[in-house]
Amino acid sequence: MRNVTWRAASRVALALTGAGALAAGMALVLVTPASAGTTLGASAAEKGRYFGTAVAAYKLSENAYTTILNREFTMVTPENEMKIDATEPQQGRFSYANSEQIVNHARSHGMQVRGHTLAWHGQQPGWMQAMEGTALRNAMLNHITQVATHFKGQIYSWDVVNEAFADGNSGGRRDSNLQRTGNDWIEAAFRAARAADPGAKLCYNDYNTDNWTWAKTQGVYNMVRDFKARGVPIDCVGFQSHFNNDSPYASNYRTTLSSFAALGVDVQITELDIQGASANTYRSVVEDCLAVARCNGITVWGIRDNDSWRASQTPLLFNSNGSKKAAYDAVLAALNNGTPPPTTAPPTSVPPTTAPPTTAPPTTPPPGQGGCTATVTVNQWTGGFVANVRVTAGSSALNGWTVTTTLPSGATVTNAWSANPSGNTGTTNWTNVSYNGQVGAGQSTEFGFQGTGTAGSLSPTCAAS
Ligand code: XIL
Repeated sequence: MRNVTWRAASRVALALTGAGALAAGMALVLVTPASAGTTLGASAAEKGRYFGTAVAAYKLSENAYTTILNREFTMVTPENEMKIDATEPQQGRFSYANSEQIVNHARSHGMQVRGHTLAWHGQQPGWMQAMEGTALRNAMLNHITQVATHFKGQIYSWDVVNEAFADGNSGGRRDSNLQRTGNDWIEAAFRAARAADPGAKLCYNDYNTDNWTWAKTQGVYNMVRDFKARGVPIDCVGFQSHFNNDSPYASNYRTTLSSFAALGVDVQITELDIQGASANTYRSVVEDCLAVARCNGITVWGIRDNDSWRASQTPLLFNSNGSKKAAYDAVLAALNNGTPPPTTAPPTSVPPTTAPPTTAPPTTPPPGQGGCTATVTVNQWTGGFVANVRVTAGSSALNGWTVTTTLPSGATVTNAWSANPSGNTGTTNWTNVSYNGQVGAGQSTEFGFQGTGTAGSLSPTCAAS
């Protein structure tokens, strides 16, 4: 089944490449922009998104740098200044001067801040590198609590945990001193961050998670699905998206973003740079984000090529002399041509919390007397689609549900999450999985599926079971 899914995904990828190139070419000639912002930040804002950049504190004294920063961007990520070695250089001694300089600059110019990062195997101070076990777990939790509390109320979203998954085909965790404290270190980190700054969105952030067919992507996806099912406080997933010859942009990127979003999290592009800065690739990335309602922002990893951590790849939107590159024009045009922001907030699927029964449950639970309804949103492209179905209980709680959808001939389901299908073509009955069958009166849950061909309206109906 897995192989079938992945083969199907690569066919979708091929179809997308052609469609994307065609749409891009036509847009320049035929389509009148729906809006015409003249900066990245303003154009993104018209689409309900932010546009951000990584910032280095020591460059804030450079006029040419801050001129572009203040004009173009609405979100800032400290490039190194909030990392563990910077904020807790000696254990228990916290140092915030450089990170505060960036936060204050951003806020005084109306920009928001992504906090990067609270728990990571990289850029640990020496004292932490030397630690293992319970002492390290406690030091990590204390670090998160201290730093998130210090910046409480000033951070839009935190990269709570960075880069915890292994590269390659295992789909599992990366070995690190943090991982060796126990597999639950990631959820412990998220719980500590939520307790310290309940108003910030909490993200998991990683690289090489952009290609939907890669094992690492699937590993992170399964973790996020599990976290949502168990109520671990996660709000967003960051895709670093450092694209280069070893890790190129793939046209199934949109499928990756929409598949994660269907789990009930926001998705954010957090460290975008593209080796060679192909205008077409930058355009595709922006179009992919705009196609996913819960992709709520894009951050590039630096302003000018000489600001980049990979300067020799000239991967950014501005030349080293500060002039706009072709990639800049492509990004701005894609933002201006993009679909408008959703008029209603996208649904958040909160998995129902089911308290253990105090008395033995009846052997056959009664059907929900008040019935249920199902609505669907379809993200369709040439040759494929992702459908997200929302199941809402009526006037009484559900103890299980079945949603029926109808696919036109030629369409085939290739992958599904949070529900079990009776088949993969034509009329399909979708039944709940173990963690989302019980839905409180008036409450909702979500499931989704991906397929090839054209989805049509799907005409979903819902029955309580
Ligand atoms: C990089 C910075 O850009 C460099 O200045 C620093 O020397 C190393 O770290 N993934 C991340 C970022 O999450 O923190 C990294 O930033 C790039 C890769």
